[in-house]
Amino acid sequence: MYEDLTRKNDNAIFEIFLTKKEIEKAIDQALKQIKLNIEFFDDLFPAPAATKGVYKRISNTEWTNGFWTGILWLAYQHTKEPGYKKIAEKNVTSFADRINKKVAVNHHDLGFLYSTSVVSEYKITGNKKAKEIALKAADCLLSRFQPNGRFIQAWGDLEDDKEYRLIIDSLMNIPLLYWAEQVTQNSKYGEVADQHYRNVINTVIRDNGSTYHTYFFDRKSGKPLKGMTKQGYSNDSSWARGQAWAVYGIPLHYKYRHNHKDFKIFTGVTNYFLNRLPADFIPYWDLIFNDGDNQPKDSSSGAIAICGIAEMLKNLPESFSYKQKYVILLHKMMRSLIDNYANKDLKPGAPLLDHGVYSWHSGKGVDEGNIWGDYFYFEALMRFYEDWKVFW
Ligand code: GLY
Repeated sequence: MYEDLTRKNDNAIFEIFLTKKEIEKAIDQALKQIKLNIEFFDDLFPAPAATKGVYKRISNTEWTNGFWTGILWLAYQHTKEPGYKKIAEKNVTSFADRINKKVAVNHHDLGFLYSTSVVSEYKITGNKKAKEIALKAADCLLSRFQPNGRFIQAWGDLEDDKEYRLIIDSLMNIPLLYWAEQVTQNSKYGEVADQHYRNVINTVIRDNGSTYHTYFFDRKSGKPLKGMTKQGYSNDSSWARGQAWAVYGIPLHYKYRHNHKDFKIFTGVTNYFLNRLPADFIPYWDLIFNDGDNQPKDSSSGAIAICGIAEMLKNLPESFSYKQKYVILLHKMMRSLIDNYANKDLKPGAPLLDHGVYSWHSGKGVDEGNIWGDYFYFEALMRFYEDWKVFW
């Protein structure tokens, strides 16, 4: 049984609602940091997470590179300043090269990479070259489908038995396939995305709406075997970012398929997430933790969940039981990110959002900003500012 939304003291106190002026101020602050970072990164990209408050510069080889280009497109969308467009387009050339030469694309994160950097360009400028590049990325993602288990394999070689699994993050990668279906009118993309989506929903989401990070399958029979974590605290806890990927991935599935069954599943994972938010409405890195546990927060999970809830609110009917509570919590989370997590200390190479966790187990990016946190923070601000044209 999914949980009811049981939070107390979340009544409609009107001061909690953010005004357009407050959002504008936060966007202006973010743009100042982005301008500094454009000079700092030049032709390179930020590392996935900051080190001591500053991103190292890397080439286009990580699963996270699309987020920086996505930030540039968001900045261009908002300001219409050609400078942002020029650099974003330069980045896109690098993404063309990456997919043509198959550089570090032996994984499922093609959606994270290409929806934010290249589909975004196509949607903003209509550039046909961008469409072709993103379709190549969609084809590459399609090639990771395992017909026996009917899922897209997340990591590693397709023949590797130890990697015969899907992961919850993939809910954000399959919108690339839905977009490809839409622009090509070729159903092969949507068919794979649908099969994978059903498999994710039926395996990683537990009965109470909490989630596993990854789920293994039996190669011979194709049957689901067991849920395990990689980045979460334990196999039976809920990694906050994994839960947030579901809070956003389900509305993105709804965007393309308009399946009302998604409302219930969305409520399950979202209520579980919201019920575990600490006093400042931004989660610890795993939902097993709360105030007093002396663990780091993951601000990026908050930003991702805001985008997901905002997307689903567009579709939930007025009569939907949790709609009003979701709106209030959305504002509380966003205000907390702006007031307590947004970096106000301008410095070249610094993140927009501090206090994230990349990988607690490996000690990477713990209590540091990360580039997807920056991207989803800016996307969330844009969603508050206007009826944002969705890249995904
Ligand atoms: N998709 C990898 C992560 O969220 O860290």
